[in-house]
Amino acid sequence: MKAVRVIPGPEGGQVAIEDIAPPVAGPNQVLVRVRAAGLNRGEINQAKELRTGNTITTGVEFAGEVAAVGEGVAGWRKGDRVMGHGRGCQAEFVVADPMALIPVPDGMSWTDAAAFPNVFITAHDALVVNGRLKAGESVLVNGASGGVAMAAIQIASLMGAKPVFASSRSAAKLDKISQCGVDVAIDSSRQDQVEVIMQATENRGVDIIIDTVGGPVFEANMKSLAVQGRLVNIARLGSATAQIDLSTLWLKRLHLIGVTFRTRTEQERLDCIQACARDMLPLLRAGRVRLPIDRTFAMTDIHAAHAYMKQDQHVGKIVLLVD
Ligand SMILES: NC(=O)c1ccc[n+]([C@@H]2O[C@H](COP(=O)([O-])OP(=O)(O)OC[C@H]3O[C@@H](n4cnc5c(N)ncnc54)[C@H](OP(=O)(O)O)[C@@H]3O)[C@@H](O)[C@H]2O)c1
Repeated sequence: MKAVRVIPGPEGGQVAIEDIAPPVAGPNQVLVRVRAAGLNRGEINQAKELRTGNTITTGVEFAGEVAAVGEGVAGWRKGDRVMGHGRGCQAEFVVADPMALIPVPDGMSWTDAAAFPNVFITAHDALVVNGRLKAGESVLVNGASGGVAMAAIQIASLMGAKPVFASSRSAAKLDKISQCGVDVAIDSSRQDQVEVIMQATENRGVDIIIDTVGGPVFEANMKSLAVQGRLVNIARLGSATAQIDLSTLWLKRLHLIGVTFRTRTEQERLDCIQACARDMLPLLRAGRVRLPIDRTFAMTDIHAAHAYMKQDQHVGKIVLLVD
């Protein structure tokens, strides 16, 4: 089968399409014929960092049909339409844990389904599980045009957050996402985030911040939080270092929380997927949640897809079509 592979090298990993043997479903595994796979910035960064070790197949989210089930699998049958979260899925086939799969609602395209798992599972875990969002609380999402960020905005809005703030470096991008559940848009290239938030919250501050930008927004984020506010860091796209004013942390009794799949056990990863499915599937079935698709590429055009994501002009998801 064809697969997107990263070959390690001293200068960083090289991405290539290779022909490899398809996987086989072992006990308690499901074999999926992949139709579409989401592209995520993390894969590009990880490929760059792969200097030693084995060649890997990339990808963390996919949609397709169950092709076979291994011994002991209950709940899935050949032909079921599924989307899932799991490594090595930018390929014609992938094996997955049955608990890593979510049914694809009727009428949902492979492209839309492949765009769902990684960003919504991440955003749900950040906002609902770690951020402990309650209806009526306010939420700020930084780097608002990103995939995870847009999923967080939608979840916040659908779960009754008020107001939902979204900050981006680009007014044009903010314009494009205004329909996604944003109450107050902050153009960080010309507006002061703290001022906008304090004005809109009568100086109370925001209850939860979902951040993928890191260093460049850290100080403003600390100042923007309300007493007992929660800052959930998902990524550090701007920079990984920042200075902290411990007096602000102390006085406002803030909670700083980091989330990543890298240090989670397999069971913890599966729990995140199931928690997201429980809350989001009804909304997905009702057509109330969906990420805009910025662009699709054939999987074999992987270099063009990576180059496009690196330009940073996309709004919403980039999806690879495997057929
Ligand atoms: N922790 C986890 O469990 C987890 C899970 C999934 C993904 N991630 C990570 O989350 C990050 C976002 O992923 P994604 O798929 O949402 O990416 P994406 O769609 O490419 O979005 C990233 C957004 O971040 C902002 N941004 C990018 N570079 C920036 C910079 N130098 N300074 C400030 N803002 C910048 C941009 O927003 P604006 O242009 O609107 O400002 C951009 O749209 C990635 O690093 C990924 O690895 C983490």
